[in-house]
Amino acid sequence: MTLRTRCLAIAFSLLILSGIPAVCHAGDANGIDTASVQRGAYIATASDCTACHTAQGGLPFAGGMAISSPVGNIYSSNITPSVSAGIGAYTEAEFARAIRKGIRKDGANLYPAMPYTSYRTLSDDDVSDLYAYFMHGVAPVDLKPQQTSLPFPMNIRLSMKVWNLLFLDSGTFAADPSHTADWNRGAYLVAGAAHCSTCHTPRGFLMQELADRGFTGAQVGAWYAPNITSDPLSGIGTWNQAGLVQYLQTGSLAGNARAAGSMGEAVEHSFRYLSAADINAIATYIHAIPPVRDPGDAASRFSYGQPSSAVVTLRGQNGVRSDDDSAPSGAELFQGNCASCHGAFGQGSKDGYYPSLFHNSATGLANPNNLIAVILNGVDRTSAIGQAYMPGFGGHPSDMNQLSDAEIAALSNYVLSQFGRSGIVVSSNDVAQERLGGPSSPLILLARVGMGLAVFVVLLCAILFSFWYRSRQNTGRLKIS
Ligand code: HEC
Ligand code: HEC
Ligand code: HEC
Repeated sequence: MTLRTRCLAIAFSLLILSGIPAVCHAGDANGIDTASVQRGAYIATASDCTACHTAQGGLPFAGGMAISSPVGNIYSSNITPSVSAGIGAYTEAEFARAIRKGIRKDGANLYPAMPYTSYRTLSDDDVSDLYAYFMHGVAPVDLKPQQTSLPFPMNIRLSMKVWNLLFLDSGTFAADPSHTADWNRGAYLVAGAAHCSTCHTPRGFLMQELADRGFTGAQVGAWYAPNITSDPLSGIGTWNQAGLVQYLQTGSLAGNARAAGSMGEAVEHSFRYLSAADINAIATYIHAIPPVRDPGDAASRFSYGQPSSAVVTLRGQNGVRSDDDSAPSGAELFQGNCASCHGAFGQGSKDGYYPSLFHNSATGLANPNNLIAVILNGVDRTSAIGQAYMPGFGGHPSDMNQLSDAEIAALSNYVLSQFGRSGIVVSSNDVAQERLGGPSSPLILLARVGMGLAVFVVLLCAILFSFWYRSRQNTGRLKIS
């Protein structure tokens, strides 16, 4: 049981302790609508509030989790009903405003690290149930989490007002009568609670989701959330409904993909708890997303590679050394660190617990970041079918199985050329960047340049104005004289 699972378990036990599952009538002795609290717990799970509001080793919903953004860490708030440290003093209307409009009780704007841009589509009923759950189903924690302090100019929360004006849609969810009820339920869940687009839709210059490129793939920290449109080459058009449902429920679809990183967490804490009807509705909707192809894709990422026996050449030898005699080759690194689980031919295990390294999304994508990220961070995901665990190799330098940037680059290039999409090349710099949590965004620099430009423009205007003013004064004087 991971810490997160434990926290979730505690949250659920608290729920059970408060007697909710046993009660079916509309209210208890304290006037609490227990059915509403119970529905709220489900929506909180579907919306994965815990993913950001429960820190590693922290109490449920007590906040303080660092969410890395291109401009620095944003710390999540304590959303337990504590009056001093949490949201205990929020009215339902203030809560709804925070969830859907990103405005805090005191009127300050929240950063869009809190996905209010997605939650804005949550229905009034769902928000009301969520409120009931957070007020009555969650234990109060009187601990204030670490405060966020972003560099200038992002520390000015007011700037988010401008951002919201530009990028926050105000419309609520409207069912489309030309589609089935199932599709509409899926559309509602995908847009709001499950917020798939926050990871799978690429973002623009100001971190806004690019709606016209919806679900075509985006970098989220060290991981790459791939194209999940219905295109058979660039997306998941080759998956059937049952396959997508299985992937969302277990994080595993043998011969195709495994969920690690943030997707593994979403499966573990959220998607696996959704009702069969809801998860099927999500799959129905996702499958109907129009195909979008990346012109660079000539084949599906799930189809690359084959078993490779190159590593057999190492047998009976001390090892195949690269040109630099001191550095182990990719083949050696593979043999020493990966083959024990993934097989000498990269074929994985018969029962599918250890995936094959060919016909594997992480080695078939044009973007090699998921391969680098899985070597650095490993996999740790629990679902109804048990725990999937792979150790990471990017640990502390004192760790026995720590691999250097150059070694991970050599290993990745070996894996890609032997089992995956050959021609994709990983450099030590790519690994170094992934180790730091993924590509950094030029946003901060641009913001600073932008501020610099703004100051420059203001100065220029001031200078021009003073010239104009003086010349006017001069003309005036001339006139007078
Ligand atoms: C992807 C991460 C993420 C998820 C998921 C998320 N939140 Fe948040 N939330 C945040 C962050 C980060 C903040 C603080 C933002 C800031 O300080 O500007 C926040 C702030 C809030 C606040 C404002 C509290 C305050 O006074 O500071 C509320 C209320 C809230 N979240 C409720 C929720 C609920 C309810 C859910 C699930 C439906 C949820 N959040 C899901 C990241 C998240
Ligand atoms: C918090 C970020 C996040 C959210 C939310 C999220 N995903 Fe993902 N998703 C990812 C990442 C990252 C991967 C790649 C995981 C890996 O390869 O280990 C991924 C992988 C996938 C894949 C497999 C594709 C492949 O080639 O590996 C599918 C299908 C998918 N997601 C569907 C969804 C759907 C549907 C939703 C909403 C119900 C969703 N995701 C929500 C981040 C996210
Ligand atoms: C102790 C066993 C073990 C070792 C050693 C190991 N793996 Fe894994 N690997 C796993 C397991 C288990 C999974 C996840 C299966 C799942 O998610 O269902 C996995 C997943 C993967 C994936 C798919 C990840 C994704 O996000 O789609 C890749 C690629 C991978 N491993 C490569 C490697 C490489 C390269 C090495 C050597 C550095 C290695 N593994 C070492 C057990 C191992």
